[in-house]
Formats: sequence, C-alpha cells, structure tokens
Amino acid sequence: MILAGGLATRLRPLTLVTNKHLLPVYNKPMIYYPLEAVAKAGIKEVLVSSSPIHAGDFTNLLGAGEEFGLKIYYAVQKNPKGGIADAIALAEEFAQNEKLLVVLGDNIFNFNLKDAVNKFEKTEKGAMVFGVKMPTESKQYGVIELDSDGRVLSIEEKPDNPKSNIAQTGIYMYDSRVFDFVKNLTPSAREELEVTDLNNFYLKEGTMQCEIIDWWIDAGTSHDELLHANNMVYDKIRKGEL
Ligand code: G1P
Repeated sequence: MILAGGLATRLRPLTLVTNKHLLPVYNKPMIYYPLEAVAKAGIKEVLVSSSPIHAGDFTNLLGAGEEFGLKIYYAVQKNPKGGIADAIALAEEFAQNEKLLVVLGDNIFNFNLKDAVNKFEKTEKGAMVFGVKMPTESKQYGVIELDSDGRVLSIEEKPDNPKSNIAQTGIYMYDSRVFDFVKNLTPSAREELEVTDLNNFYLKEGTMQCEIIDWWIDAGTSHDELLHANNMVYDKIRKGEL
C-alpha cells in the first residue's frame, strides 16, 4: 500500500491546489519513487490511497499501473487529517488476510526491500519497521530505540527527548492483525491515528522487528527536505545509485 493523502500544510503554497505526492523530485513525480521501490521488491499489487479531491489526479497519472509492472488499485481516505493508521485501515479488503507492506508516498530511498519482504513473509506473526541513523537526534520523526542486539526497545512519535538518533522511516510491514489493532487506536494530540501507536501494539507483544537502511529522505517534511530530495536524487542518479 502506498499512502498519498493528507493536506501537506508544511509544503504550502506548493500544495494549495495539488497533492504533495505529485510534486516533482528531480525528473519524476514524488510518488514514482516508492512505487518503483515496491515493484523492485517483487510486489505485484498496490493500493494507492489519496484524498477525495486528488484521487482523480492519481488515476490520471498512474492508471492501472502497467508502466511500473504493477496492478494498481485505489482507495479514498475521506478524512485527509485521519493520519497514517487511518489510511492503513482502508487496505483491509485489499490485503485479503495477507501481510501488508506500507510505504509513505513521499519517502525516497534506494534500499532494496526484497530481502526484508522475503524474511517477513516467512515470519509467523508481527511487524517490521525500517530505521535510518540520522546525523543528530531528531524530534521531527518517530524515534526507534534498539538494544545492542538490534531488538526494538521503544518507538516514540516526535519525542521531546529522543532516546536515539534512529528515525522511523515511512516503510512498515504488518501481519493481517494490523486491521484489528487499528480499530483500537484513539486519536493523538494532533488528532491523528498514529502509525507509532499502531507499531507499539507489536512492540508490546514482542513481535516488532527493525531493519536499518542507509539512505532515506522524507521529501514531504519541509521545503528544505524537498529541495534536499531533489539534490540527492540528482546526485544518486549521476552516480548510478538510483
Ligand atoms: C510520520 C510518522 C513518523 C515517521 C515519519 C516518516 O510522520 O508519524 O513516525 O517518522 O512519518 O516519514 P509525519 O510525516 O506524519 O509527521
């Protein structure tokens, strides 16, 4: 599933009349990057969720998905402020009791998800998050704390006192119980159903795994990150790394 909803208020005025995930990152619309990443991981069917006002733009741009070697389905998130976990709930029918890979439509990375997907497919139950080591501790992301064996000790959403410099990326894998867990969530202070609260169900159960990836950008966080994403993609393409 690729999430492409939300209001993207942090990127205004760029997002006043268009959806953030359609903005250019170097030579492609932003959503192409996560779509190509899931296709590279061997995934064949993708659900793209977006807001009612922009859903038609995604069908216009992506169609049925042949260009990516994917079959693309669409879901509409009625409440654009519902949050990531609210959008994940839209995939219940699509997932058909199978495991689900979720990627935020503004996340850009060159990590090949294939091995992690294969590993997770063999896991009996649980979830997987992907972390990235930031140069300094960051308060603008979810923060993952690991022990020396790589076991997840805590995941906190935008904490005032981050316990590590590992940011939680927008790449998640869940077993089919995720849809039951979502139903037990309550809105956070920013009135969203938080993916971090969802992840904490698995953490408490002891079934949360974490993989560390080496390069990742959330292009939708700010104008600076969007510019950074453009420059990084340009640089990686020149070096043949993307
Ligand atoms: C969301 C998650 C956060 C994660 C980030 C990654 O934040 O809540 O845990 O680190 O995506 O892109 P948001 O973009 O909604 O502020």
